[in-house]
Amino acid sequence: GTVVLAYSGGLDTSCILVWLKEQGYDVIAFLANIGQDEDFEAARKKAESLGAKKVFIEDLRAEFVADFIWPAVQANAIYEDRYLLGTSVARPCIARRQVEIARKEGANFVSHGATGKGNDQIRFELTCYALYPQVKIIAPWRIPEFYNRFRGRKDLMEYAEKHGIPVPVTPKAPWSMDANLMHISYESGILENPKSHAPADLYLMTKNPEDSPNTPDVLEIEFRNGVPVRVSNEKDGTFEESPLGIFSYLNTVGGKHGVGRIDIVENRFIGMKSRGIYETPGGTILLQAHLDIETFTMDKEVRRIKQGLGIKFSELVYNGFWYSPECDFVRHCISKSQENVEGKVMLSVFKGQVYILGRESPKSLYNEELVSMDVQGDYDPCDASGFIRINAVRLREHHRLQGLSSTT
Ligand code: ARG
Ligand code: SIN
Repeated sequence: GTVVLAYSGGLDTSCILVWLKEQGYDVIAFLANIGQDEDFEAARKKAESLGAKKVFIEDLRAEFVADFIWPAVQANAIYEDRYLLGTSVARPCIARRQVEIARKEGANFVSHGATGKGNDQIRFELTCYALYPQVKIIAPWRIPEFYNRFRGRKDLMEYAEKHGIPVPVTPKAPWSMDANLMHISYESGILENPKSHAPADLYLMTKNPEDSPNTPDVLEIEFRNGVPVRVSNEKDGTFEESPLGIFSYLNTVGGKHGVGRIDIVENRFIGMKSRGIYETPGGTILLQAHLDIETFTMDKEVRRIKQGLGIKFSELVYNGFWYSPECDFVRHCISKSQENVEGKVMLSVFKGQVYILGRESPKSLYNEELVSMDVQGDYDPCDASGFIRINAVRLREHHRLQGLSSTT
């Protein structure tokens, strides 16, 4: 049979490529460009030299932003109150193209290098099954003949040397990384001890706020339908209007000022806790800006319901259910809620923080006259007395029941 392998160019998936060939498969290597720092042409040559029948290198950056990051921005997506889901949203994007290639090439099998203990295996495979129900999945890290043979990096290196797989010359960082346009995540290795601090040179996307510039960058972000359509910088007049341009620019500014670093322990779907470090500069700026323009333009009660849907969406995406009926439903509801989320947010980026400076919108629900301390507006203060007394009914009853009403 023919198998489409999600290939990264690294040691693990290079060994998997050769191992799949050894098992008798024709291997098509598929490498998605989702904004990671990678020499894609070198990876193509490597896959070809290892005996891949075909190599697909696909630039998915624009669709990653438009189809996956933007819905996350609309949702204010955040897992367990802190993680902005940079890896979680990338997996369905990669797997969607992978099965597209598999169908086109008449391949019945897909394969990946995710481990048997993590979330990524679930995200890859649920997407594959949803979009290509007949597909068969080969997950080498769950196959005993594979994982018993490759018990550590030493075994992979030995196998590589024996099979002419170029081994990395630079020593590997003592942790595992997953990089894309949205974030870089770091886990395992020396980070597995939750008490140990990350070394200063771990972070690749953001400056340490201690060393970041002493003057802020002031940005204006314009939203329409809850997604940014333009970002501009007051100081130097630069601006961006394409989804990819906007997101990349926010990464640059956020990175320069050390925005979006977190170090957390999180709950994996599979049931264990894991320690992870993330840097999400552009995503962090967008979350703050979007929260601001959303509250400015959205009805209070709609917002409450929508907030609950955002939590649901985040859980579904983290757990790998991007392509599920319930996630589809939730995405549509969230998208509907964004119809009036438009306008401009002015903010300053400085020393690891995002400071909102002001906002304006043609769809604003903010009524300066209504809220003003100086003007009456269409509001009778006397009405508030009854409103408060009616709200107090329940409180007084509760107090009475507690038998506390007699105490002075
Ligand atoms: N824990 C994060 C998540 O589940 C990041 C996973 C990183 N993946 C990786 N292959 N290093 O989304
Ligand atoms: C992996 O197991 O491949 C990385 C961690 C994860 O998927 O959660």
